[in-house]
Amino acid sequence: MLYMDKTTELILDGKICKLPIIEGTEQERAVDISALRDQTGYITLDDGYGNTGSCRSQITFIDGEKGILRYRGIPIEELAEKSTFIEVAHLIIMGKLPTSAELRHFSDLLTDNELLNEAMKYHFEGFPPNAHPMAILSAMINATSCYHSELLTDQMRDSFVVQAARLLSKVRTIAAFAYRKSRGLPAIYPKPDLKYTANFLHMMFSLPYKDYDLKPETVKALDLIFLLHADHEQNCSTATVRMVASSRANLFASAAAGVCALWGPLHGGANQAVLEMLEDIHKSGDDGSKFIAAAKDKHSGKRLMGFGHRVYKHYDPRAKIIKRACDDVLAKLHINDPLLDIAKHLEEAALRDSYFVERKLYPNVDFYSGIIMRAIGIPVEMFTVMFAIGRMPGWIANYKEVMEAPTRIYRPRQIYTGPTLNHYTPIKERK
Ligand code: SDX
Repeated sequence: MLYMDKTTELILDGKICKLPIIEGTEQERAVDISALRDQTGYITLDDGYGNTGSCRSQITFIDGEKGILRYRGIPIEELAEKSTFIEVAHLIIMGKLPTSAELRHFSDLLTDNELLNEAMKYHFEGFPPNAHPMAILSAMINATSCYHSELLTDQMRDSFVVQAARLLSKVRTIAAFAYRKSRGLPAIYPKPDLKYTANFLHMMFSLPYKDYDLKPETVKALDLIFLLHADHEQNCSTATVRMVASSRANLFASAAAGVCALWGPLHGGANQAVLEMLEDIHKSGDDGSKFIAAAKDKHSGKRLMGFGHRVYKHYDPRAKIIKRACDDVLAKLHINDPLLDIAKHLEEAALRDSYFVERKLYPNVDFYSGIIMRAIGIPVEMFTVMFAIGRMPGWIANYKEVMEAPTRIYRPRQIYTGPTLNHYTPIKERK
């Protein structure tokens, strides 16, 4: 239930403009400016949309000041402790935790859709061995849609849950095949008796003559990473998915666009950048102090990757959970990773440093996640692909919201600051 019983007044050029106040179920409030330009001729300008709501959504709630994150109202801490990635995917996409029958049906749909069309193997052959897997992922998600022509028409033969399962299942196979190709290894096909994350690890690391040893702690650690990444309000990649969906593009095209937005080092690419930062610090023999000094210097071009967040002005609750899981998984796998010690030292130093404290810069989800993925044996160039697999339920759910709501096509305005009217100059007269 949204509350539109209030209005506010804006006085512009002496004219009073009445604008509705919208209040959400968690008492967040917004000024609805839909009528602003018609009433006043003004638009608003908000660099990076830091103060602008793009939609109403019922999927995820974040309170950045209190470090709260809930999927469909359920706290991330409870889900991390008690749920699984696929159960959470159903919660996020379908709006409810599944019954046993619903979970079995969803799991069966994932199994039924885990294979790629065999012809897609030839696409993988066209990529150079050093192709970044995020490039392959976005390309191959779109390529997959070519085998489901109904996606390109309005006559959706399959229900949305089937489309969602198809994308969620195949993205895992594409990612594993991309990794195998990069290592010159034969593709390992999924096994129908393995659950989602175990099957992914099987496709990543098994050999034709020897199955990968699926340690429960390894499977659970990666499943937790996927779960913690499953959705996060209107972050850059999810907002991109909604933007593309608003033109009524198909689910696969919207998800492929989300992959591209996620790739950037300021967003999902940060987990790869964090590991590379920790490795550089380790190689240089610095205990992190020099790097912290550089990260504070605007001219150094360096940032403390994995720190800071547009919304969280306190500890990212996912970072807390992942940090605890780091200690747990590395102990169970008997791994002593010096990069974890460096990460902890950086965190302690930064949280004592006024530069970070004043700017409310805390560890975010990317700061520790790479340590776990490295312990599992996932190569650093695949880290952002792990983020994309984890975020797929959120993208799918946001796509579904756009399709189900009377969403207008996204078409932001701008303030033009270019040349005023001038005319074509024949080339002989140009200077
Ligand atoms: C994700 O939106 C989401 O929900 C994203 C995400 C999700 O689940 O989808 O949570 C996942 O993308 C997490 C963020 C991963 N990115 C990084 O870790 C990269 C490093 N962090 C940043 O570059 C930065 O903090 C952002 C991009 C995350 C947020 O940027 P903002 O909100 O635009 O903040 P800003 O760049 O305007 O910084 C404000 C100030 C600046 O200093 P001043 O100009 O005020 O002096 O803080 C400084 C910045 O220079 N600053 C940092 C810093 N982050 C911000 N300084 C050093 N190191 C950093 N990491």
